[in-house]
Amino acid sequence: GAPARADISKLEPGQQMIVEWRGRPVWVVRRSEEALANLAKLNDRVADPESRRAEQPDYIPNTPERALRPDIMVMVGICTHLGCSPTYRPDIAPADLGSEWLGGFFCPCHGSRFDLSGRVYRAMPAPTNLVIPPHSYQDENTLVIG
Ligand code: FES
Repeated sequence: GAPARADISKLEPGQQMIVEWRGRPVWVVRRSEEALANLAKLNDRVADPESRRAEQPDYIPNTPERALRPDIMVMVGICTHLGCSPTYRPDIAPADLGSEWLGGFFCPCHGSRFDLSGRVYRAMPAPTNLVIPPHSYQDENTLVIG
C-alpha cells in the first residue's frame, strides 16, 4: 500500500496525533525535553530496554530516522498482548497510576504499561514493546509512514 504522510509541524511537545496506516492506528507522539530525559531512568524498569526482541529500529540511537526528529516517537497503537487500544497518559504521577509513573501508555484491558518510547514495563501481560512501523522524514515536519 501507499505510505501515509503526516504534517507534524503543529504537534506540540506532549501532544499525540493518530495517523491511519494500512488500517491500523499509528501514534505519533512529540516527547517533551523532560520526557526524553526521563527515558533513561526507566531502562531497568522496562522488560526489553533496547527492544532486541522485535524489529524496532527506532530504539537504536542515531538511526537516520531518529537523527532528524529524536523528539518524535512513532508506534502502532495496538497492545502487543491481545490487541486492545492503550490510552495515552503523558501525565507524571497521576493518582490512578502511581507516583512512579513518568508518562506513557496504559492498556485498560489487562493493565499493560508502556513508556513514551513504547517499551513495556517488566512483568506485564504484553510480551513485547509496541511495534514500530517503518517510517522516515521527507523533511523535519513531514513524517512518512510505510
Ligand atoms: Fe493490552 Fe491485554 S490487551 S494488556
